[in-house]
Amino acid sequence: MKTLPELFANNDEWRHRTEQNQPGFFKQLEGQQSPRFLWIGCADSRVPANQIVGLMPGELFVHRNVANLVNHTDLNLLSVLQFAVDVLKVEHIMVVGHYGCGGVRAATEDQPHGLIDNWLRQVRELYLRNRKALAELPDDGARLDRMCELNVARQVINVANTTVVQEAWRREQPLSIHGWIYSIANGKLSDLDLGVNNNPELRTLEADSYNG
Ligand code: CO
Repeated sequence: MKTLPELFANNDEWRHRTEQNQPGFFKQLEGQQSPRFLWIGCADSRVPANQIVGLMPGELFVHRNVANLVNHTDLNLLSVLQFAVDVLKVEHIMVVGHYGCGGVRAATEDQPHGLIDNWLRQVRELYLRNRKALAELPDDGARLDRMCELNVARQVINVANTTVVQEAWRREQPLSIHGWIYSIANGKLSDLDLGVNNNPELRTLEADSYNG
């Protein structure tokens, strides 16, 4: 017996509609995928990568976790990154945060949340380092928005410093890293203008991002 039949019904409807609009679509995808983009985003259900940028299956390689983090010991992310860069040869990696991120919010709170606090530790450090500047903002909403942006900047730096990206740049493989943020409130995706294409640009972003 199928559980959750409505989801299988949705799937039938979707695959028939897709095939109707683009005959041979699935057959063609079966051959190979050649996405030009790697999306590193939050696992939040309100931030569906493909839909936000209007891309079809096959066009976007996706990694999502709580608070769109790049931890250098995360074998899952590193494996996705290596495959995307070395095998698929994506040309763009976008780190995509979102306003109102619950993971980022949890990292700014003083009470414990259990195991997740280990995952969020680097965001907590980022918050503590920027506490003074954040205190000058008018309210908690503005502080959280700013933290979400600072977190994107930090993760752009982290992804650029991985061995995978460093080695790609060393062999002069074109690879740009972008920092974007998404607003759940109105669906708008914005470029935070944190893009880096090489180590000199990375060093500049690193210098800019140290506030104390
Ligand atoms: Co989030």
